[in-house]
This record gives sequence, structure tokens and C-alpha cells, in this order.
Amino acid sequence: MSAADGPDGGSAAAPSRQREHWGTRLGFVLAAAGSAVGLGNIWKFPYVTGENGGGAFLIIYLAIIGTLGISILLAELVIGRTAQKNPVGAFRQLGGTRWRVAGWMCVLGAFAILSFYTVIAGWTIAFAVKTASGRLTAPGADTEAIFESFVSDPVWPLLYAAIFMALTVAVVIGGIRRGIERVSLVLMPLLFLILIALVVRAVTLPGAMEGLLFFLAPDFSKVTGGTITAALGQAFFSLSIGMGAMITYGSYLERKAHIAGSAASVVGLDTLVAILAGLIVFPAVFAVGLRPEGGPGLVFVTLPAVFAAMPASAVFGTLFFLLLTIAALTSSISILEPAVAYFVDEHNLKRSRVTILCGVIAFALGIPSSFSLGIWSDYTLFGKGFLDIMDFLTANIMLPAGGFLIALFVGWVMGPRAIEALAPNTALGLWLARLWLYGLRFIAPAAIAWVLISGLI
Ligand code: PFF
Repeated sequence: MSAADGPDGGSAAAPSRQREHWGTRLGFVLAAAGSAVGLGNIWKFPYVTGENGGGAFLIIYLAIIGTLGISILLAELVIGRTAQKNPVGAFRQLGGTRWRVAGWMCVLGAFAILSFYTVIAGWTIAFAVKTASGRLTAPGADTEAIFESFVSDPVWPLLYAAIFMALTVAVVIGGIRRGIERVSLVLMPLLFLILIALVVRAVTLPGAMEGLLFFLAPDFSKVTGGTITAALGQAFFSLSIGMGAMITYGSYLERKAHIAGSAASVVGLDTLVAILAGLIVFPAVFAVGLRPEGGPGLVFVTLPAVFAAMPASAVFGTLFFLLLTIAALTSSISILEPAVAYFVDEHNLKRSRVTILCGVIAFALGIPSSFSLGIWSDYTLFGKGFLDIMDFLTANIMLPAGGFLIALFVGWVMGPRAIEALAPNTALGLWLARLWLYGLRFIAPAAIAWVLISGLI
């Protein structure tokens, strides 16, 4: 099952030097699904759903994923696969120098997301260690106090973030096949196995039903404009769209590779994992008598209390946090790759050197995020600390704005060329492809602009 072996032959738009490609189609799908499935699904989705009323949020989220989300994901893959370049190079090649700005936004967004993503991923390693040592699941352990005192410490969270960044850099230096693809092929199936074991455990806890009802039964009285903005931001963040990660992964596909089916698989897997995470977290939260509006600490504070109430608590707890670290790693590599690809493609720099440099810069940018939960917690804007601001700015503004530009670009600048790019090898019927293009021309930009503007107001 080979989507690609070696770089493809020289059309006018062929890259100037040999570009690495994914080894197999499965490798690509798992790498792209690995990018999508991450902290967004397991850490963020449950608490954003909890804060926005549960089931009603879930329905709006699913509606956005199934329309806008899949369309823009496909659009990014088409851009990347056609141009065979990083986001800046791809926009320039297909749309002219003016469009480079859109590519720059992508690279900037990558640094912004990676900076705070690494901090939270560092927490997951720390909590795997704490759970393994039995501290978090000891009888009477105050998980909230342990979480608060850990995240507000000026040193430890940064040390763990540094470890996580080093892992990310190591995989990205390995390149596409030997680094990203190989790691995804092993880690993604492992992640599913651990998730399924945890779902079985959570839904059979006494009192789980209340959590299931909260998650699955919609209460539309809780829906506000803010709910829709949150659902849109969550959808973009979760699918890794709006900042060129999928353009970059698409650029390592052979031009003849199938993409519509792959895009559907990625969306399906990402949504499945978010739902599985909900099926773990909500029954667990209610079973131990906690509330679902726990904010960013939700999985860190509530789940250790759940594990503590289970047999083999340290094993389940450690497995869970390891799972989070794995999910975060297969995503963080895709956040770093667009910037690395830019410097390698456009400036001919050495991959290893650029990867280390980008990693160090993103790590340094993450320091204020980590401090904002401790020694810098007094510095706020509109009541939000630095980490919250970075999260809000990227997920709720930059990614949707990026998606807006991507939709316009494929809809109007690439136009019928985009359908041609899909046509030779896709299972998508021509009428569906046309519907997709019209959606990108009119509906997607209008819908995103409406949500963005109403959200800001
Ligand atoms: N999709 C990832 C998650 O759900 O954790 C986060 C992410 C990866 C966002 C890549 C944006 C991105 F470009």
C-alpha cells in the first residue's frame, strides 16, 4: 500500500531539490491523525465542553467538524500536495507573492501554539511521574492542591516542558519517514488501546450515568454566542487546521496520492478520540462527586481522584498521563514542522540546526505562559493570564482567521484547479467536489467571519 516512494517527477512546479515523502498511505493517515489527536481532544475538549453546558456544545461542535472542519482540512491538503512546499512557499507558488503573508501567519501561529502547548504537555509528563510514585493516588491526597502547587512553581513545570520539547525536536530532526511517520505508526495504535481500556473502566464506575447524561443529552438553554465561538475554535484546534500544519503534511504526499479518503479518516479518528475522552472524563468526574466546569485543571485534578478510587490506581493513572504525553507528542511535531519546513525549503538551512533553533525559541516563548500560573499570575488582561490569552488568541482568532484565508485561497485563487487536484484519484463525486469548492468560496468565509466578528463583539 504505497502512496509514495521517492520524490515525484519534474513538472513545472516541482521542488528544486528532492523532497522526502511519506512511505505509506497508512503512515500518512496516522501521522495526520496523530497531529489532530492531542491535548486538544483529551485535555481541552472535556473542559471546554464542561464549561459550555455538555451535550448541546457537543452537537454544535460535531456540526462544525462535519462541514467547515473537513472542508478546510481537505483544502489544506490540496494546497500542500499541489505545491510540494511549506506554507509560505506554497501560498507564494500558487497565488503569487502577496499571498506569502498567509504563509507567514501560519509560521507565526505555529510558534505561538507550540509555546504554550509544550508547557501543558510538560504537565502530562510530570503527572505521569507523580502518579507512578503513588503520590497522587494516595488515600486522602488533595489533588487540587498538588496541581496548584505544581503549576505555580517557577522551575519544575519548565523543566518538564524542556524534556517534552527535547522529545519533539528529536522526532522532527529524524525527518518525515524515519521520524514522524515511524513514531506515529507505533504510538497511535497504542494510544487507542489505552483509551479503550480507560473508557471501559470509567463507564462502569458507580454513578457514571449522570456524567454520560451531561455529556450526551443536549440542553440548548445553555447555548450562547460564546458557545459557538468556543466550538469553532475547538474544532480548528482539534483538527490542526488554520495554521498550515496540514499544508505541510500534505506537501510530503506524492501528487498522485488519495486525499479525500485520508481527510475523512483523519476527521473520523479525531472526533472518535474526542468522544472517547468525554466518555472517560465525564462519568469519572460525576462518579467522584465533582463538577464538570473544572477548567484547564479538569483532567489533572479530577482524574487522579478517580484513579485513587480504583484498584491498581497507580497503573491506570500512569497509563492515562502517558497516553496524554504520547498524544501531545504526535501533535507537537506537526506544530514544529511547518516552521522547520519553511527554513529548510526557502533558506536551504540544515534540518537539524533549524529544528533545534525553532525548539529553543518556542520554549523561550512558553516561559511567560508557565509563569502566568505562578509568579506572574498578577499580570492579566481582561481577567486572563498570559497562557489563557495565548490559548484564546490562537484557537479562537488566529486559527479561524487562517481558515478564512485558506478557504478564500482554494475557493477563488486555485478555483477549478483545486477540483482537478482532487479529481483524478478521489472517491469524491464531481458534484461533491463542486459543492466543496462553492462552500469554500462563499459559505466557509461568511460563516467564519460571522462567528469571529460576533465573538469579538
Ligand atoms: N490538534 C492538536 C490537538 O488537538 O491537540 C493541536 C494542534 C496541532 C493545533 C497542530 C494546531 C496545529 F496546527
